[in-house]
Amino acid sequence: RIDACIFDLDGVIVDTAKYHYIAWKRLANEMGFDFTEEQNELLKGLSRTRSLEIILEIGGVQKSAEEQAVLAKRKNDWYVDMIRHMQPDEVLPGAREFLESLREAGVKTALGSASKNAGTILEKVGLAALFDVVVDGNAVTASKPDPEVFLKGAAGLHADPAYCVVFEDAVAGVQAAKAGGMKAVGIGSADVLQDADMIVSSLGDMSLQRLKNLK
Ligand code: G6P
Ligand code: MG
Repeated sequence: RIDACIFDLDGVIVDTAKYHYIAWKRLANEMGFDFTEEQNELLKGLSRTRSLEIILEIGGVQKSAEEQAVLAKRKNDWYVDMIRHMQPDEVLPGAREFLESLREAGVKTALGSASKNAGTILEKVGLAALFDVVVDGNAVTASKPDPEVFLKGAAGLHADPAYCVVFEDAVAGVQAAKAGGMKAVGIGSADVLQDADMIVSSLGDMSLQRLKNLK
């Protein structure tokens, strides 16, 4: 039995990882070191603050808390400047259709994202109305793999975590779902998302039937 579906945003609903990457790379380059796409993988699902800490470690650079706050804001200003232009056609294949089919079937939906920009992005791509509850980086204190963001989503939907399915593209996100006692569908490759209960390449591969098969 599945009562609710909880979705990560970046990499599941929209491909904002590319914008995060451009902005983090620009920041790293300004500090005098490079930042690769491979290294960007490590940041998926992590908060802005945690991401910056990892980037500074990669560059072997030390910054005070005040300097870190300035750097994080610089990165976010560039990022916000890019997502301002996002359009509905940037929704990943199958996401809108799957959300609509859940709505029709009476399965509740929540967003569970570490991003403080999640609300803006949902508005830009025209998906806000398809989520019953949005839990974003403004509402949580602990970063994935802590289950806080998903547990808050389940609570907001009045759903028992045992009957919730989380959709995630990040290792930390799949771990968070399992730590919260939920089922996890990994979006991506089985090599990376080993803890997931099922792997699909995109939400285009999901259906109500496949959701039921999870039980
Ligand atoms: C998501 C992304 C991360 C990003 C985080 C915070 O989890 O996968 O790469 O760092 O959100 O996003 P924000 O928009 O608050 O900087
Ligand atoms: Mg993600």
